[in-house]
Amino acid sequence: QARKLFSYNIVLIGFMGAGKTTVSDYLSTCFAMDIVEMDQVIADREEMSIPDIFATYGEEYFRDLETNLLIEMQSKNNMVISCGGGAALRERNVQEMKKNGRVVLLTANPETIYDRVKDGDERPVLKGNKNVPFIAELMEKRREKYEAAADVVIHTDDKDVMQICEELINKL
Ligand code: S3P
Repeated sequence: QARKLFSYNIVLIGFMGAGKTTVSDYLSTCFAMDIVEMDQVIADREEMSIPDIFATYGEEYFRDLETNLLIEMQSKNNMVISCGGGAALRERNVQEMKKNGRVVLLTANPETIYDRVKDGDERPVLKGNKNVPFIAELMEKRREKYEAAADVVIHTDDKDVMQICEELINKL
């Protein structure tokens, strides 16, 4: 039977396509961690898609739900919390992330991000703007906030998920 390894939670942040979902799946399998895919949990609880929540109640409301979920997770351990790409943009969310454990920022070049997101249709932020220059510009706008939130930074270009998780564990 699998046992727990971490007395705290690992919080993954970063841009869309940085690898949060892939890395959380891998960590979950290796270390018997439960995954909280924040967007998924919020959408399930609200019985609404993320774009619909934004359109109906606005961004502040959505960010409040993120804050509340991050607070809720603080009473747990050995969880991997995979944040939506925008979660770290709110200062209050970052405070609550840090109380969960270690905040890990996954990064990649805009070209790599483009390659990873180009075939899906599920990202409203990139709708109609799925190209390298737009991605590069938005990443640059967010960079400072992402970096300020992170305890650990991992560049994921040209690495497979095993290498990324190995580096992550070494840097915790
Ligand atoms: C967003 C990223 C998405 C989702 C929403 C907004 C963003 O999550 O939360 O569409 O602003 O970067 P992923 O990073 O999981 O794609």
